[in-house]
Amino acid sequence: MQTGYTATARALHWIVALIVLGMIPAGKIMVEEGLPRGLQDALFLFHKNAGVIVLVLMIVRLVWRWLNPPPPLPASVPEWQARAAHLTHVLLYALIFVMAVSGYVRVVAGGFPLELTDALGLPRLLPKVESLGNAASTVHYLAHYAVIALIALHIGAALFHGIVRRDGVFGRMWRG
Ligand code: HEM
Ligand code: HEM
Repeated sequence: MQTGYTATARALHWIVALIVLGMIPAGKIMVEEGLPRGLQDALFLFHKNAGVIVLVLMIVRLVWRWLNPPPPLPASVPEWQARAAHLTHVLLYALIFVMAVSGYVRVVAGGFPLELTDALGLPRLLPKVESLGNAASTVHYLAHYAVIALIALHIGAALFHGIVRRDGVFGRMWRG
């Protein structure tokens, strides 16, 4: 019986995790005042365009998950922990979407370039409306605290399973 995530689900998880774990410090650093212009531009370029890739990968992930639901957790995991894990995962999916969509709206409605979609000739899905861009910026800013807290909780729980409990939960996402 399959006890772990499929190779595709694992690849998508680790690619998105790596990109997001790079985007958060990039996002925090790029908004600092007094940075050299070249560094700030490079961080913005990475942050905006990697964020669009994350949005696409998250949609692929959800479709894949719907077609290939992960197997249940081992019976050794208490009911309340299984519920907490499920809730954390749902919130992670939701918040990464909120971050990616609010980032997109912030940039496009703000009238700023979005190099990847512009280069591919994709339409900008919103007109330039400065007030909308500013509202999206506020959402992006507020939600980033929740994302950081949830990711910290998530990594803490994963390491607890991998190092302390050694109950195979970490391996479900690592080896499948
Ligand atoms: C995918 C998940 C994303 C995460 C986790 C994320 C995270 C962050 C973080 C932590 C900051 C710094 C907040 C601060 O301290 O002020 C930030 C700022 C920013 N992000 Fe993102 N971001 C994401 C997606 C995107 C996308 C897709 C775009 C644009 C296409 C984008 C555009 C921006 C911009 C322009 C800022 C500068 C602040 C502002 O103008 O509102 N982000 N982001
Ligand atoms: C070092 C970093 C990370 C580790 C060690 C890790 C570990 C894991 C493990 C072991 C699972 C499987 C849990 C289970 O079987 O119930 C999992 C699932 C998940 N992780 Fe992570 N993770 C990390 C980073 C991240 C990041 C940065 C994100 C968000 C962008 C994330 C989002 C998720 C989601 C949404 C799930 C649920 C997958 C699903 O059921 O579809 N993870 N992670």
